[in-house]
Amino acid sequence: MSETSPETSLDFEAVQNRAEVALARCEDPEQLESWYYATLGRKGEVQLMSRQLGQLSAEERPIFGKRVNALKQALQVAYEQRREEIERQALERRLSAGAIDVTLPGRRPRTGTLHPSTLVLRAMCRIFGDMGFQIYRSPDVVTDEYNFEWLNMPPEHPARDMQDTFYTRDENVVLRTHTSAGQILAMREYHPEPIRVVLPGMCYRNEQITARSEIQFHQIEGLAVGEGITFADLKGTLTEFARRFFGAERQTRFRASYFPFTEPSAEMDVSCFQCDAKGCRLCKYSGWLEILGCGMVHPVVLRNGGYDPERFSGFAFGTGPERIAMLKYGLDDIRAFWGNDLRFLTQF
Ligand code: DAH
Repeated sequence: MSETSPETSLDFEAVQNRAEVALARCEDPEQLESWYYATLGRKGEVQLMSRQLGQLSAEERPIFGKRVNALKQALQVAYEQRREEIERQALERRLSAGAIDVTLPGRRPRTGTLHPSTLVLRAMCRIFGDMGFQIYRSPDVVTDEYNFEWLNMPPEHPARDMQDTFYTRDENVVLRTHTSAGQILAMREYHPEPIRVVLPGMCYRNEQITARSEIQFHQIEGLAVGEGITFADLKGTLTEFARRFFGAERQTRFRASYFPFTEPSAEMDVSCFQCDAKGCRLCKYSGWLEILGCGMVHPVVLRNGGYDPERFSGFAFGTGPERIAMLKYGLDDIRAFWGNDLRFLTQF
């Protein structure tokens, strides 16, 4: 008996080949379903083939039956494989289209870093804190009296011109040009008790913005008032601060200066930490870096704060964390502090 029955002209291999070629051309679930319907479905090609069983002789039937079943099974397996392939390809397309790739390792969320000014500010406050100073918060917006008048700068005082002030619509209300504005507030709150505070905060000046000057910057003010406080206490406190902040080997020197709210007044320099006072670009070959202004609190200011200058004395100082950060980190443009460039801000 021949394998291909001449009556039915059935060529199993040809049917299988044709079906498999058509199956391989299916690209998506819809085409796959049409293929299944046309091939293995109830009215599909293979089903129609098996109907011809009835026309066969008794000997031919079992052989024919076996072959049809084998064909069905082979195509069923081929169909399942193709379906899996199509599903996998579809998944791959979805993933590479960027929706989600669950196999990628997670991305670490970027944690914030402290602003360089905050770092310096905190380091300074910690040192003064260790020396017994409390942090005193005072407002950024103050009346003229706190910023100028009660600090011994009456209207028309020439020292006012040194600080280009931002005025509000109310001419008597200004953005503080220095943290010294908080001195009177602190004194009025504490008097007649002794006082030892540092006042950190933002200050504002209506200046041309350049690499050296900004319209906003931080200051830290220090204020100590009590009985028997002398210039030696001022020198000791600030020298100790400089050594803790810049290094134990640092030298300090005090140069006479002038501020309306202190008498006598001084500026403190610290020996250059870059060249160890030998002379370099940072210290402009002087061996010294100017760090802060200071002095003994003026009697007029003490009185305005509620203290009797006959009994009480005190010292004060003011310094700028951005300037110190610039010296410490070798920065040459103050505008970087408020430029919001993360490449700069995350370096410290
Ligand atoms: N307020 C001054 C300024 O902004 C800095 C300063 C100098 C503060 C001397 C003081 C001081 O407390 O005693 O330039």
